[in-house]
Amino acid sequence: MQGPFITLEGVDGAGKSSHLDWLATWFRMQGRVVRMTREPGGTPVGEKLREIVLHEPMHAETEALIMFAARREHIEQVIRPALAAGDVVISDRFTDASFAYQGGGRGFDLALLAQLEHWVQQGRQPDLTLWLDLPARTAALRRQAARAPDRFETQDLAFFERVIAGYEARRSASPGRFAKLDATAPVAAVWQQIIAELERRAWC
Ligand code: TYD
Repeated sequence: MQGPFITLEGVDGAGKSSHLDWLATWFRMQGRVVRMTREPGGTPVGEKLREIVLHEPMHAETEALIMFAARREHIEQVIRPALAAGDVVISDRFTDASFAYQGGGRGFDLALLAQLEHWVQQGRQPDLTLWLDLPARTAALRRQAARAPDRFETQDLAFFERVIAGYEARRSASPGRFAKLDATAPVAAVWQQIIAELERRAWC
């Protein structure tokens, strides 16, 4: 049996980190082998590309291509082999972030993104995408504590509103894969929403 392949998404400040840790623990307690990973990154090449794309000024198209270049390496080196071995793969972001940030935020052509998605993923999609949905303004307040922001975290409210609209468009296109979670709730309540989604799918 393959997978499952689970991705976590949301605007910067939505609070992915604790849920990523708890997800790994939850699956390990059920006796599953878990492969935690992230995008951009997840491989030696991908981590170098992450450093560049998060910090060096560049054209929006270069940015989109780097996201997908890192993703191609990630799928080949990490995601596909781990799923084939029956491991649970949990990725901190995946292609929905490209549609939300590069497509929504930067206004990159969505049809081109869809072509890149098809080329790089060859039909592979996550089994479940947990989207921590938080208004742009609330996320900005939560981010204020973060030190040394990257090129995305310094964007204005309007950018993050477009990112959220980008996630919403992806959710309506694939409602069965997407779980939209209310991330304004206390962290324990958000975790309960996640558990409900996992139990509904009966992977363990
Ligand atoms: P993030 O996942 O928030 O990591 P950290 O918690 O360490 O800040 O940072 C990654 C950033 O990259 C985030 O702002 C979203 C952005 N991103 C894209 O713009 N496109 C993509 O395809 C991916 C995967 C991420």
